[in-house]
Amino acid sequence: MPSRLLDASKSHPLDFYSLKELPESYRWGPLDDPNGSTEPVPIINLDDPNARELIGHACKSWGVFQITNHGIPKRVLNDMEGTGKSLFGLPARQKLKAARPQDGVSGYGPARISAFFPKRMWSEGFTILGSPLQHARQLWPNDYRKFCDIIEEYQKEMNMLAGKLMWLILDSLGVSNQDVKRATSQKRPGPFEGSSGAIQLNSYPACPDPGRAMGLAAHTDSTLLTILHQSSGTSGLQVHHGRAGWVMVPPLPGGLVINVGDLLQILSNGQYPSVYHRAVVNRTQHRLSIAYLYGPGSGVRVRPIPKLVNNDHPPLYGPVTWSEYLEIKAKYFDKALSLIRPNND
Ligand code: SIN
Ligand code: FE2
Repeated sequence: MPSRLLDASKSHPLDFYSLKELPESYRWGPLDDPNGSTEPVPIINLDDPNARELIGHACKSWGVFQITNHGIPKRVLNDMEGTGKSLFGLPARQKLKAARPQDGVSGYGPARISAFFPKRMWSEGFTILGSPLQHARQLWPNDYRKFCDIIEEYQKEMNMLAGKLMWLILDSLGVSNQDVKRATSQKRPGPFEGSSGAIQLNSYPACPDPGRAMGLAAHTDSTLLTILHQSSGTSGLQVHHGRAGWVMVPPLPGGLVINVGDLLQILSNGQYPSVYHRAVVNRTQHRLSIAYLYGPGSGVRVRPIPKLVNNDHPPLYGPVTWSEYLEIKAKYFDKALSLIRPNND
């Protein structure tokens, strides 16, 4: 992470709220297709008896879909959104008390992918990996319990939903519990037992020149899957979809966006490719998004599920743990997947 972005001695680059013009360091040039096409991204009702097939089709052809009837109480989503808004609404000085360390993951700062791009992104982020307690104390020393409760409840609900979605996704590939156990070298009973997630909050302030600024540059997620909650009313997420190019994924009231991540691409031996996506910004409205980044438990190796590998479909990737993959991604970014070489045993 370039340290200049956290240099508090200069006018603070994460304090966007007073800027009336887009500074040169944030100017990406006219964006290709800033409004995105309106081709509809699949919306899947999880109560639909055909949900599994619809999910399989969406994973294969889009790498992204929205879900409804997912079972996460509205209150849990609203509480999380409220706490995200309060967090980013704190004075910059206060947020910096929880600044992400130079080589760390958790905490406040610019988008973690910033180091790969020459221009700054019009956003601020907050990552929570594991317990929220330390951050809560840094941000709200006198009133930290509420933040912890909200984050912990969100983590629990999202973890359950992510596990359920993984089974639907694997089922759509014709893969059973046993098949996955073999593919993840997992010794414990459930293949996704111990799977965990990080919460990534993203805040995109209103921007004086949205056609030239970038909220979050194009990337794929280094996850099995990502569950994204978008604050209502303001679009910003775009996914790249073949010849349609950038397609806007507008917030769906009560809905959640599911992204296929790089590790699911590995597990599915390329059948479900991870989705390339970005976030654009808006002239008048602030936007908030909350991603739950879901991956396998520590030490669990992901590799193509043997059932999906045969003479016609040789393994495209070798085994890798989440932390090994994150290290490769942190060095090579969008080349990371091509570096996970298959075993030739
Ligand atoms: C992300 O890719 O982490 C977030 C995208 C968004 O803000 O919609
Ligand atoms: Fe993402």
